[in-house]
Amino acid sequence: MSLLQVEDLAVSAGDLQLVDGVTLDVRAGEVVALVGESGSGKSLTALSVIGLLADSLKVTGGSISFDGTAFHGASGRDMTDIRGKELAMIFQEPVSSLDPLMPIGAQVAESLIVHGTATPAQAAKMAVDMLRRVGIPDPERRAHQLPAELSGGMCQRVMIAAALISKPRLLIADEPTTALDVTIQAQILDLIRDLATQDGTAVLMITHDMGIVAEMADRVCVMYGGRVVEQGEVEDIFLRPRHPYTDMLLRTIPRLDHPPKQELFAIPGNVPSPSDWPTGCRFKTRCDRVTAQCNNRPVLGTGHHRTACFHPLTGESYDRFA
Ligand SMILES: Nc1ncnc2c1ncn2[C@@H]1O[C@H](COP(=O)(O)OP(=O)(O)OP(=O)(O)O)[C@@H](O)[C@H]1O
Ligand SMILES: [Mg+2]
Repeated sequence: MSLLQVEDLAVSAGDLQLVDGVTLDVRAGEVVALVGESGSGKSLTALSVIGLLADSLKVTGGSISFDGTAFHGASGRDMTDIRGKELAMIFQEPVSSLDPLMPIGAQVAESLIVHGTATPAQAAKMAVDMLRRVGIPDPERRAHQLPAELSGGMCQRVMIAAALISKPRLLIADEPTTALDVTIQAQILDLIRDLATQDGTAVLMITHDMGIVAEMADRVCVMYGGRVVEQGEVEDIFLRPRHPYTDMLLRTIPRLDHPPKQELFAIPGNVPSPSDWPTGCRFKTRCDRVTAQCNNRPVLGTGHHRTACFHPLTGESYDRFA
């Protein structure tokens, strides 16, 4: 059974629907990647799950359940209990989620103490150890420093340490390594992968980087215009994509075997903003397979490889790994 189950989630800002019909699930021990261009609704989906949507936003439809228990992303005491212990999130903007007045060691240790997992002395030691594992040099000394004394990349690592230390059952990581250099990035991704493999943590990983997806994910969920347009196992998504958008997204990946001066493929046009989403299929304005049928809304369907498209690709469409 899935640890996290999101069914037909909708999120609105007043009359404006921003996310609409997001269905996905994450099982224990599995990494699910949530991908899609900027503005497609990835962060809003994550924030709904963890119950931290901005006050102006509301979950207006669908359901979210964690370990079989339904909850709506809205705040509430139950969520506060779950958050930090069972469910942790690494945010897209690191600095704003750290307390500027609290030493970083104490911030990393906090969830262990709050949830009674460790004594303050044990927690302090575990925090130093975790800071070391995320690549903070001289962690014993650094633990006493405030966020302002650290670089942005280090603050990001502190936040990652704080999320990982309590071994949450579900980890949501929103672009966790975008700001980090590649060595540290690889180290952090390994840590997250280990958490899934060794501790059975369910990981929902939001990223723009299809290279990270290929390396990390067991399954992939592709979003476009506030909706899930395709989901499936990582091999299916990379080798047998069905949605034209997924196919285009994969063509944007640079390839080592392409001549160096060859221009990278870019998806034509831009993601329409939520206030002027087209009716029916939202990708139809950028799609080369569009027909009159696409004025209707395509459904995602069921099964382990699903796609919301009237004219899906079939077969091996693009030789990515030749
Ligand atoms: N508080 C808000 N009020 C109104 N609109 C919002 C709010 N937060 C996000 N949006 C809009 O909702 C849409 C989805 O935003 P979201 O942050 O989920 O995108 P994303 O997929 O995470 O993009 P990115 O890759 O840039 O992080 C965007 O069009 C965004 O402008
Ligand atoms: Mg985002």
